[in-house]
Amino acid sequence: MPNPQRRPTDRIHAADHPSISKEGKVSERRIETTTSRTAEWTCVSRAASSLESDSYYRSDDHIALLLVPTFLKLLLHIPSIRRFYSQVLAPKGIYEYTIARTKYIDAVFKEALAEGFDQILIFGAGFDTRALRFQSEAGNTRIFELDVPITQKAKLGQYAQRGLNIPANVEFISIDFDKESLSEKLEGAGFSRGVRSLFVLEGLLMYLQLDSVDETFKVIEAFAGVGSVIVFDYVRASVLRQAGSCYGEREIVRSVAKAGERWHFGIEEEELERFLKKYGLRTSEHKDAQDLEQIYFTDAAGEIVGRVNGTHCLVRAVKPATSQEYTTPT
Ligand SMILES: C[S@@+](CC[C@H](N)C(=O)[O-])C[C@H]1O[C@@H](n2cnc3c(N)ncnc32)[C@H](O)[C@@H]1O
Repeated sequence: MPNPQRRPTDRIHAADHPSISKEGKVSERRIETTTSRTAEWTCVSRAASSLESDSYYRSDDHIALLLVPTFLKLLLHIPSIRRFYSQVLAPKGIYEYTIARTKYIDAVFKEALAEGFDQILIFGAGFDTRALRFQSEAGNTRIFELDVPITQKAKLGQYAQRGLNIPANVEFISIDFDKESLSEKLEGAGFSRGVRSLFVLEGLLMYLQLDSVDETFKVIEAFAGVGSVIVFDYVRASVLRQAGSCYGEREIVRSVAKAGERWHFGIEEEELERFLKKYGLRTSEHKDAQDLEQIYFTDAAGEIVGRVNGTHCLVRAVKPATSQEYTTPT
């Protein structure tokens, strides 16, 4: 079904939505009835990565390993099974992308804690374990996690089953961004306005409707104090047009659609700065797949040891003190 909001000149894209009826009503989607499958995959990838002996492939999420079912945990301990999962079953370069993204966002998260940010808001948290993993560094920083009720409930159930205590500074807020008011939910949970905050949107924007993306960034603009940081990844708009120009594109698109969690939103790289400026933000770092290969998968001899799926880019943006502070990103 063609999206009436989409014009040929649009550079920010919301793709056709399979669950919008002819009357324009959003019908029940998979994430309303079952734990997010993409959140589960990400958790499995992080669990597998925590067991790797190769430092390029190893990331730190030891808690992810506690959250996967016992039989899978046993399988993941076998290197050949991990290899089959990451190099045959997973779409090309997605394991590598997830590892790079985890390392990158871990660093941004730890930096915010080290700088004593007042609060951190994790959108579409899925099985993100940072609130637990970095608890010893959290100090007075309050951490809020947002997700749809069913996935959040599954995560809390897993935490309880594994005896993982929820620290006192962590708050869970259930929300469907496509259906509920974000600012009302945040206000209700005591999320403060105007203070230095970190906003984490990892593996989320591509799943949202255009209006929800707009609302999310408006709310970030309204709540973020000067010096706040927003870290997110986005899918290239060309992927939604099925240009087929990115490494591993066809495989990942097929895979998320099969999981019933299709991508709807993408950004044209050259439009990013303009997109963020609309919400009073500026890019401080932009990393595409090649940058991530250089940072995380290049050996001492300069050889690339892992190829990263080319469909996504990672962004670190900031809320500057004045509108003059808009500079070219690194
Ligand atoms: C790919 S997963 C990423 C999870 C987590 N950020 C991570 O990196 O491990 C996408 C997450 O977004 C959440 N999500 C997708 N659409 C949403 C919506 N409309 N409202 C709230 N959460 C949503 C899903 O429930 C899921 O947890």
